[in-house]
Amino acid sequence: MSIETRPLTDHFGVEAMGVDLAAPMTDATFEALRRAFVDAGVMLIRNQDHLTPADQVRFSARFGPLESHVLGQFTLPGQPEIFVVSNIVEDGRHIGAHGGSKQYHSDLAYLAAPSLGSIFRCLECPKEGGETAFISMAAAYDALPGNIRMRLETLNAEYDYAWGYDQRHAKTRGPLSAEQRAKTPPIAHPAVIAHPETGRPALFLSDIWIRRFGGLSEAETEALLDAVMAIAAAPDAEYRHQWQPGDVVLWDNRSTMHKACPFDETNTRRLMHRTTIQGTPPVRFDG
Ligand code: SIN
Repeated sequence: MSIETRPLTDHFGVEAMGVDLAAPMTDATFEALRRAFVDAGVMLIRNQDHLTPADQVRFSARFGPLESHVLGQFTLPGQPEIFVVSNIVEDGRHIGAHGGSKQYHSDLAYLAAPSLGSIFRCLECPKEGGETAFISMAAAYDALPGNIRMRLETLNAEYDYAWGYDQRHAKTRGPLSAEQRAKTPPIAHPAVIAHPETGRPALFLSDIWIRRFGGLSEAETEALLDAVMAIAAAPDAEYRHQWQPGDVVLWDNRSTMHKACPFDETNTRRLMHRTTIQGTPPVRFDG
């Protein structure tokens, strides 16, 4: 069983053709799709306008248990596995997470068991801007000079979700509740991980939540992260997806990072539904 694909870039990402995520899918077809997704890191599937939230949850759950986001106020009423990302305001309230993460990150990297992958579906989008940009953290590892690579292999990054939220989102989204803070205590993860399925090394560095590397000051951490990200997120390393309604993009949070790109949030609408698959604690790459 194989899935017809075509590359999105010369180093990662594929588009899968002829797939209907609402239709019944045999285990063999699903396994072929899953394998192609893991190998590519990012998978685009077009023409899924007919999917219902329940269809998206059903398909996503074939990868494993799904997360309910810590920001419960932005999950879909009655369907807590769907995290709404949107700038739309209804009855005076934002219906989704807005002003979103415009810096590269991997979803839920701040949890003890970060996400395996995310499935993002476009319901409405502006004609210009509002793309999602992706980079391969496996390709970024390969591209680093040997001395930086070896240094990172020994380091742990200390994640602090509440610290990152307070700096970036508290003013526009409101403060985190005591319960949300309790669910997101600081946690350390290796800076270079082995992909649990392919064994391939990848950088695991979501700097929006990284306070410091163990043993380094915040200033030293920032300087090292800046040097790494200048290589990881070089313009020719990125895939920038320009959305069309009905597009679905799956990304592997263990081998890629992504960010939202700006758009005219005052005069245009963007509505996206994300399901987030639970993962396992990252394991250090040991050469
Ligand atoms: C996300 O970070 O999961 C959302 C990215 C986007 O809005 O493009």
